[in-house]
Amino acid sequence: MDIKRVGIVGAGTMGNGIAHVFARARSGYSVVLCDVEQRFLDRGLATITKNLEREVAKGKITAEEKASALKRIEPVTERARLANCDFIVEAATEKFEIKAEIFRDLDRLARPEVVLASNTSSISITKLGALTRRPEKVIGMHFFNPVPVMKLVEVIRGLATAPETFSETRNLALKLEKTPVEVNDAPGFVSNRVLMPLLNEAMYAVMEGVATPEAVDEVFKLGMAHPMGPLTLADFIGLDVCLDIMRVMQDGLGDPKYRPCPLLIKMVDAGWLGRKSGRGFYKY
Ligand code: 3HC
Repeated sequence: MDIKRVGIVGAGTMGNGIAHVFARARSGYSVVLCDVEQRFLDRGLATITKNLEREVAKGKITAEEKASALKRIEPVTERARLANCDFIVEAATEKFEIKAEIFRDLDRLARPEVVLASNTSSISITKLGALTRRPEKVIGMHFFNPVPVMKLVEVIRGLATAPETFSETRNLALKLEKTPVEVNDAPGFVSNRVLMPLLNEAMYAVMEGVATPEAVDEVFKLGMAHPMGPLTLADFIGLDVCLDIMRVMQDGLGDPKYRPCPLLIKMVDAGWLGRKSGRGFYKY
């Protein structure tokens, strides 16, 4: 299908990054960005404007390209406005019940041939697909934060995902100048299956007094050439998101090695969610 108009559900960190890359792609997609409240859309658009401005300052795009990318984004609060989209990416909160409601609704709204992709970081694509009348058209399209910078898109096939859905999604990722990597459906896929236990273990090291967050991060930055240490990265991703993903892996894989670190649980209970709340392993 010739994809011209892309719907995005959720204007948070991931949703606004995804809207950014579609709107500024050479193919010039029209983007319908949907969230439940106007203030979330306003905040998402302010972030997109700031990040496009950063790209202008670095000479990656021109001021005209920034202006036309912004013009291509239509912010909406009614989900029905996604009905005329040719491809939809869901990037809502990482909770199964929330995504389930959205997928059922998108299935009613969108034309039957439209692919419904989820940017979920760990929830089963097979399960989301089974809620719709088009499981063969449901797929995972997992972007990485910051979306305008990170090259990877993990493309996840659910059990029922059709080969054509996979190739359409893969081609779309290439049009965004991203590198798609094919992965089968399993809790945490590949990225978070491997990353989250690393972050969780770094939290245990802090909890047990093995080292301070600063020391753990220095070890990874200087010893393993990671751009950010694991605790800085956990704060960047959001500690609530890290906990949700650990729980999906604990439930889905059943191995005690996926037990979330008690310090992580305590910090989320305290509302210390990392960078977005002003406090996590560090203060912002
Ligand atoms: N939008 C556009 N451009 C941005 C940007 C944004 N939001 N954030 C940074 N940039 C650009 C900068 O302008 C700069 O461009 P340049 O290379 O042309 O100079 C470049 O990215 C590097 O940024 P900075 O110089 O400001 O800062 P750093 O060199 O410290 O890099 C970083 C910042 C890219 C965030 C780097 O620290 C990094 O790669 N960190 C690791 C991020 C990571 O692991 N992300 C994955 C998280 S896991 C995930 O998302 C999956 C989910 O399911 C949990």
